[in-house]
Amino acid sequence: MSLGLDDVVAAETVLSHVDGEAGRLIIRGYDLEDLAGRRSFEAVAAILWEGFATEDREETVRAALGTARLAVYEGLEAKLPFTDGLSPVEALRFLLASLPDSAPTPAHVLVTAAMPVFAAAIARRKAGKGPVPPDATRGQAADLLHMLRGSPAPEDHVRALDAYLVTVVDHGLNASTFAARVVAATRAGMVSSVVAGLCALKGPLHGGAPGPVLDMLDGIGPEEAIPGWLAGALDRGERLMGFGHRVYRVRDPRADVLKAVARTLRRGSDRIRFAEKVEAAALDLLAQRKRSRPLQTNVEFYTALVLEALELRRDLFTPVFAIGRVAGWAAHVLEQEAAGRLIRPQSRYVGPMPRQAA
Ligand code: ACO
Repeated sequence: MSLGLDDVVAAETVLSHVDGEAGRLIIRGYDLEDLAGRRSFEAVAAILWEGFATEDREETVRAALGTARLAVYEGLEAKLPFTDGLSPVEALRFLLASLPDSAPTPAHVLVTAAMPVFAAAIARRKAGKGPVPPDATRGQAADLLHMLRGSPAPEDHVRALDAYLVTVVDHGLNASTFAARVVAATRAGMVSSVVAGLCALKGPLHGGAPGPVLDMLDGIGPEEAIPGWLAGALDRGERLMGFGHRVYRVRDPRADVLKAVARTLRRGSDRIRFAEKVEAAALDLLAQRKRSRPLQTNVEFYTALVLEALELRRDLFTPVFAIGRVAGWAAHVLEQEAAGRLIRPQSRYVGPMPRQAA
């Protein structure tokens, strides 16, 4: 048995399939490349929720999320002071946990709608500003940017964010989805399950990497310093953020989708040229130093460049990841609840045995 359970199949799902050898991600019958940038976040949520929920068409999902964003916003201002002193992802965890598991709004809609409303209000409070109310007529991406900025975002920003949210919407039995399914299997409810998912996403080995990717780009300094800086980090036993993946043995297909989005947003900028040089140098070095393990660019490297171009604060990157992934978590929770089987694996005891009585 592997300690990371790499070799264990712990669920059957119709929702997504990660082919780590071919570098392919299938979301409920569609290749990722046919969804990201082509279908809206609401359309993809509808695809994931079909058969598990009544909100299973793009228009019904869009309308239900818009109404639910307004409902979530009510009473939010009173809760915000309790988030002072917390990081944005901790504040999101707090606000999400404050939602009831039994609410009049269908729970998968409630949690999905809540994420952008909470994340925007948290970011504005950190900047000393009051929250901006949602607009139920917008999609999640456009409304998030509007609630963050206080004014409508340009169309290319909305399209880029929408493509990002679709790119990260679901990804097999990753750590956060597994955590959500374990809690769902106890019948604890949607909100509790999604809080578990968010807690798992917070870690730097999962969804917490893109902020550190930018810290790395900034820390390197001038272009000539790239090889020495990366080699020094590996010499100290550090991991290069944005590289490596538990399942992919080839390139993470999400990295390519987001690289294209980042290039569109930052056409010809020094930042994207620098990042591509760092990527190439890191891949060379990892290939030399870690011969036993193919290490390629993962989703987080270009996530960092897309979200930075959208002028988001670094510590908001993980909450924004959650705004996309929550539709997948919710679908897995609905699927797990339908399966109805408690997840309860075994452990092997390797501790001491009680002493025999003399
Ligand atoms: N930089 C340097 N070395 C690495 C990296 C990296 N990014 N990733 C793995 N390795 C090395 C390990 O040090 C180890 O080397 P060793 O055998 O000489 O000790 C070898 O590759 C295997 O590492 P594991 O820990 O077994 O790989 P695992 O499958 O557990 O790791 C993970 C996957 C956690 C993503 C890892 O690659 C990592 O830490 N990457 C950096 C953080 C990151 O980018 N996280 C985002 C992941 S994407 C997502 O979850 C949304």
